Amino acid sequence: MPGLLLTGSRMLTGTEIKMDKNLILKYNRPGPRYTSYPPANHFAGDFTTDDYKECITLSNAMSPENISIYIHVPYCPRLCHFCGCSTTLLTNADSTGQYFEALLKEIENVTALLDKSRQVTQVHLGGGTPNSVPLKYIERIIKSLKLKLDFHPDAEIAMECSPAYLSFNDIDNLSEIGFNRISLGIQDFDIKVLRAVNRKPSKHDVRELVNIIRTRGFKGVNIDLIYGLPHQNSESFAKTINKVLEIGPDRLVTFSYAHVPWIKSAQKKLEDIGLPEPGEKLEMFAIAYEMLTGSGYVPIGMDHYAKSDDELAIALKNKMLHRNFQGYCTKESTGQVYAFGSTAISQLYNCYAQNVKDNETYIRKIHESGFATERGYIMNSEELMTGKVINEIMCNGFVDFVEIGKSFGKSAGDVKQVIGYDPVKLQPFIDDELLEVKGSKLQVSLKGMLVVRNIAMTMDPLLELKEKKFSKTI
Ligand SMILES: C[S@@+](CC[C@H](N)C(=O)[O-])C[C@H]1O[C@@H](n2cnc3c(N)ncnc32)[C@H](O)[C@@H]1O
Ligand code: SF4
Repeated sequence: MPGLLLTGSRMLTGTEIKMDKNLILKYNRPGPRYTSYPPANHFAGDFTTDDYKECITLSNAMSPENISIYIHVPYCPRLCHFCGCSTTLLTNADSTGQYFEALLKEIENVTALLDKSRQVTQVHLGGGTPNSVPLKYIERIIKSLKLKLDFHPDAEIAMECSPAYLSFNDIDNLSEIGFNRISLGIQDFDIKVLRAVNRKPSKHDVRELVNIIRTRGFKGVNIDLIYGLPHQNSESFAKTINKVLEIGPDRLVTFSYAHVPWIKSAQKKLEDIGLPEPGEKLEMFAIAYEMLTGSGYVPIGMDHYAKSDDELAIALKNKMLHRNFQGYCTKESTGQVYAFGSTAISQLYNCYAQNVKDNETYIRKIHESGFATERGYIMNSEELMTGKVINEIMCNGFVDFVEIGKSFGKSAGDVKQVIGYDPVKLQPFIDDELLEVKGSKLQVSLKGMLVVRNIAMTMDPLLELKEKKFSKTI
């Protein structure tokens, strides 16, 4: 339905994609999100620092050749009750200083093992709230990275920011340090929702903030929203989406609130206030999807959206989309990820390596041995192949078994055998017009991308081996 439409109070200018809610309900069962393959619940404690060092050395000769850096900043001035991230209350300036000293030491030790002819194409600071700690710490980290490694001229340098602690002056300073992308955690504009989850609203009008970010030469602005919080309903969430549309970020994520009180006990407080029913949550997801696609945003995976001229939307069109723990990226910009800080997960060619979770232990371990590896996973060649299939289907909704086989010196049949390819398991998706099988190629339909992780689950031989409590899709 291209053109200008008026649906209720919703002004739509693009091609609205209708959401099939029955379809979502049919396939709404717990499963991995496949931000990594194998998923993090497979990481094991017998992976040592020596394993990590060996994998770093090996990574120099592997692809992608580019280097991506993730820096974890586990501090927030106030803790949101919904939060599923690894963070702590920012109380003691001394321990923050010690944490950043440890980060610098870890950077020194890891970069010493890297081939200096490789280029950095991505740096991502996440957390926690990196914009809430003194800027001098952030500046030292970026300076140290630039001193030790060669940066690609178009490297993306991004920070996750809570707008509650972001002043116009901070934006100038971040730009001067070299940042060129900002992700703003909005979650919701409704003050009643923010109060209920113990979250401070934005310091400045968000539209003004985004305008300032744009005029300071940043390449792009992302906005994060969450649906499924107390006091939210489809009507209130539609208002929030309308506000976002007025602001027009380049990219946007509508996260389904992951309720895991058995891991994050603060989330129990939200149960006392009352969480939206699953049906209402689905309405919110659907309304956001229809409003955003109707306004020209391209859906990327399930819950990410990008403007049609954004490089992620273009990469999706060209089947060149990729993802890591930090989010979607293009195959050109992505690199093997070297991650620093507590809980940080490195994603190298053949391994995942995660650091200890506790900040104090992280600081101590770095001072003792220069590394803080706690667990990880080394992939064998079959898991590398399966990982490639899962990544292609999750990101691009497309798999060419011949091409994937070629990249491993194998045939399409070999790949299918490794992933336990079973046409019977795929048949329901084909019957529901979510998937097409053409020779050795699989193509997920636009509608099918909404249940793509269920399709991926049919090609994951490790799934049956390790059952775990996952949150549901919606
Ligand atoms: C590291 S956090 C946030 C950055 C920054 N501290 C902020 O809150 O603005 C990244 C994003 O994860 C999302 N998030 C946090 N907890 C979540 C949960 N329990 N379920 C779904 N999304 C969640 C939020 O949308 C948040 O913006
Ligand atoms: S959502 Fe962001 S600001 Fe809130 S506690 Fe989590 S990391 Fe901190």
